[in-house]
Amino acid sequence: MIGRKNGGNVANCTMINLHNYNITTHFSTPLLHLNNRTLANEMLPICRDILSNESLVTNAWGYKNTYDPGTGIAELPEMNKFKQYTSSVAREFLQSLGYGKINFEPQIFTSQMNKKDSHGRHAHAGAVLSGVFYLNMPEGASPIQFYDPRPWRDTRVLPVSRETEYTRSSFNFTPSVGDFIMWESWLHHEVIPNECDDRVTLVFNL
Ligand SMILES: [Fe+2]
Repeated sequence: MIGRKNGGNVANCTMINLHNYNITTHFSTPLLHLNNRTLANEMLPICRDILSNESLVTNAWGYKNTYDPGTGIAELPEMNKFKQYTSSVAREFLQSLGYGKINFEPQIFTSQMNKKDSHGRHAHAGAVLSGVFYLNMPEGASPIQFYDPRPWRDTRVLPVSRETEYTRSSFNFTPSVGDFIMWESWLHHEVIPNECDDRVTLVFNL
């Protein structure tokens, strides 16, 4: 049975007969997920146009994208709708988590990963929330892998008998077209080597 007590999630456990006991869960790591295929279909040709403009492509991290340390493509008029959508989802996300209102400073870039492209483990320093909107996901498009943020797990390895939210060290989110995910920017993640051409995303920092 699952419930809440003392600020954590509670699972009532009856596996042993010595005692009944509860395990509470604290310091959870949220990941927002929604799907908006209509908006993805609208943004894909816009991003293809942007990616075909050599003056906007930077190839940061060794694959085709438009990242720059400033606001990226966030100031382009064709990004207005996506920028407003992302900010409104972000406001609701923060409210759901219990945070107050803040002013966002959106940074947006678009990327096209081809076969064998990848993006090593990193976090998005300086941002509050980060996320990805998946616009074109051919078969073989790589997932995004998130890492357990609990630092002690870098220094101790315990034997694991089954995967649970306590024992796993990472999890993969495998995207489909229209998936939109958002997380707190300190959460480490990577894009493992991609196995298709033309994996197109919009990435944002707020
Ligand atoms: Fe990232």
